[in-house]
Amino acid sequence: MILLTVTFAAILSLSYTIQTPQRQLGYPLLGNRTREIFIDVFYDNICEVSAANWPLFSQVISQEYLRNTLGVAVHIFPLPYHHNSFFAAWAGEAVIQTDASKYRDYMTYVFKNYDDFISKAVNLTEGEVHQAYAKAVEMSTGIKAQVILDGYKNRDLDLRARLAWKYGCYRGVSGTPTFMVNDVEVPEAGGFNLSQWNSFLRNLLG
Ligand SMILES: *[C@@H]1O[C@H](CO)[C@@H](O)[C@H](O)[C@H]1NC(C)=O
Ligand SMILES: *[C@@H]1O[C@H](CO)[C@@H](O)[C@H](O)[C@H]1NC(C)=O
Ligand SMILES: *[C@@H]1O[C@H](CO)[C@@H](O)[C@H](O)[C@H]1NC(C)=O
Repeated sequence: MILLTVTFAAILSLSYTIQTPQRQLGYPLLGNRTREIFIDVFYDNICEVSAANWPLFSQVISQEYLRNTLGVAVHIFPLPYHHNSFFAAWAGEAVIQTDASKYRDYMTYVFKNYDDFISKAVNLTEGEVHQAYAKAVEMSTGIKAQVILDGYKNRDLDLRARLAWKYGCYRGVSGTPTFMVNDVEVPEAGGFNLSQWNSFLRNLLG
């Protein structure tokens, strides 16, 4: 019985451990972690609420008074009930590896067309879903679709997308969008409008 308990405890503790990343996680959207305020945002590429949030958040972070003060990283957290979401994350890793500066265009495009990968994709095979993301990448970034199709055979990119998801779990993320400001979750931030974001951030800046 004790052995069983010890074994179970060992499995449990293992399941809470993720490998040490080779570099800082998240797509560096703005600045870096030396900035006074740093926001980690967890998005699902084909989540309707994430898609609706992005235009506003992108407006928030591009404001002049935050320049050189704010840093932002995007973490992709594919929700299991968005069946094709993990493939969006995987394609995203291929975009980042090929030309990281184009990631934002890819993310924006998929958000705008998220339903192509949800209700319009219910009858697609896995291969057809890969094709659809590869096409989305080409449309939005000019990176050839074949680069993304090859990416779906690349184990390292698969692992990076998995690690991003595991990191979200590790930080206690269970839905998207989730905002962590200076490492602490701000549960209400997903519902902030522009003026609420600004009063929140101005308050932090003092
Ligand atoms: C991080 O940001 C600071 C302040 O904006 C800048 O001086 C520094 O060069 C940046 N570091 C890297 C590695 O980009
Ligand atoms: C998916 O297939 C079902 C069964 O053939 C069909 O009723 C449905 O309209 C299809 N959906 C789409 C979005 O193509
Ligand atoms: C933002 O939300 C607050 C609180 O609900 C509201 O008072 C304010 O009018 C809103 N501002 C804009 C610009 O929508």
